[in-house]
Amino acid sequence: MPRRKTKVKDIKTIKGMSDILPKDEKYWFLFWKAAAEVAELHGFHYIETPILEYADLFELGIGSNTDIVEKEMYTFETKGGERVALRPEGTAPVMRSYVQNHLGYFMSPVKLFYNGPMFRYENPQAGREREFHQWGFEIIGEYDVVYDFEIITMILEIFQKLKLGDLSLKVNTIGCKVCRPAYRTKLKAYYRQHKKELCDDCKRRYERNIFRLLDCKVPTCVEITSKAPTIYNYLCHTCNQHFKSLLELLEDNNISYEPDPILVRGLDYYNRTVFEIFHKDFNFALAGGGRYDYLFEVIGGRPLPAVGGAIGIERVIEVMKKLGINWAGKNKNKLFIIAVGDQSKKHIPKIMAMLRQNGFIVLEALGKKSLSHQLKAADKAGVNLSLILGQKEIFEESIIVRNMKTGVQETVLQKQLVDFIKKNIK
Ligand code: HAM
Repeated sequence: MPRRKTKVKDIKTIKGMSDILPKDEKYWFLFWKAAAEVAELHGFHYIETPILEYADLFELGIGSNTDIVEKEMYTFETKGGERVALRPEGTAPVMRSYVQNHLGYFMSPVKLFYNGPMFRYENPQAGREREFHQWGFEIIGEYDVVYDFEIITMILEIFQKLKLGDLSLKVNTIGCKVCRPAYRTKLKAYYRQHKKELCDDCKRRYERNIFRLLDCKVPTCVEITSKAPTIYNYLCHTCNQHFKSLLELLEDNNISYEPDPILVRGLDYYNRTVFEIFHKDFNFALAGGGRYDYLFEVIGGRPLPAVGGAIGIERVIEVMKKLGINWAGKNKNKLFIIAVGDQSKKHIPKIMAMLRQNGFIVLEALGKKSLSHQLKAADKAGVNLSLILGQKEIFEESIIVRNMKTGVQETVLQKQLVDFIKKNIK
């Protein structure tokens, strides 16, 4: 096809995809720092899988009848004729990597975290993007409920570090291969009586994935679902115990939760525990996850238990912005250095290196010649102190320290500079 002649200024980001801009870096850095600290404290290891995978991985792993695979996956053919997909989530790729790289040989259980972009062709709206970023945790190799609990608490620990405040944790169980068939039959019978009143999507889901009717948000379907049978009467002994133990662990550790019998999640690989975490002022989930003991078998392996969860980073940042996180004091180690004259530009790198070695963030605008332009840049950077080096100071091995708020300046010997700044930077 001939290329369209498009002017660069007319090219914008693709619908539902955004640039992450410097003005927001503080939120991203704060999130990554909190999440990385929690991952390290729990002994998790970093994994990153490719953004492109064979489409089969998700069709098998997540389920061909899910909205994510059926409607939202970016699937296409490569020039070599391979059918590939932009990853819509991270769990199936991590499982694929577990098999491919024999990760089970190196640790048990395998505790992994990842961080990166995911892609879903959804209708963009507040908190719903076509490209978004997840931070995920997966624990592979254990059936024990303590690991379901660990995943939930790790996510809450991150949110606590970020001081997100009013959160609500919704938990449910969706049973297992043993107990789900009886519940499925019961649900089908219930919804059959209401089939005509269901929305078009649910009429279709009725045939292919009856559990998805439970979380349809169309008001008529919500009304019908409010009287639907819940799974709790159909759970087998093991699933019942598992769910009970999880709730006990949450209670014993003072973590409040709401059991939500209609929480089923949009991915087919779950069994037993599923959960979502919300902020009270927003109607989208900040994180979600659950147990997926059958995923490994579905993609061609042996039975292998696993549990995990992922955080939507953009959504968390939205909350951080709304809460107006206080950044005062965060820049207290920032300095601005100013060179007056060409000679001082030659001396400044040594001073900058010495300051950075002592843990100071050193900013500059050395491309600008005049003192006033550099001072203006220092003002914009919002630093408390600027350091000015001119001819006289080079000769005296000193430097001028300027308090940017008061304008008061003091000349300090370079060898005493670090101590002087430490005393005066606050
Ligand atoms: P998920 O619930 O589909 O689960 O996504 C996890 C989180 O990603 C959501 O709670 C939400 O915060 C964020 N998210 C999802 N879709 C969007 C979107 N279109 N725009 C912005 N944020 C979004 C999973 O992906 C599972 N892999 C989680 C998991 C890990 N389960 C077990 N291990």
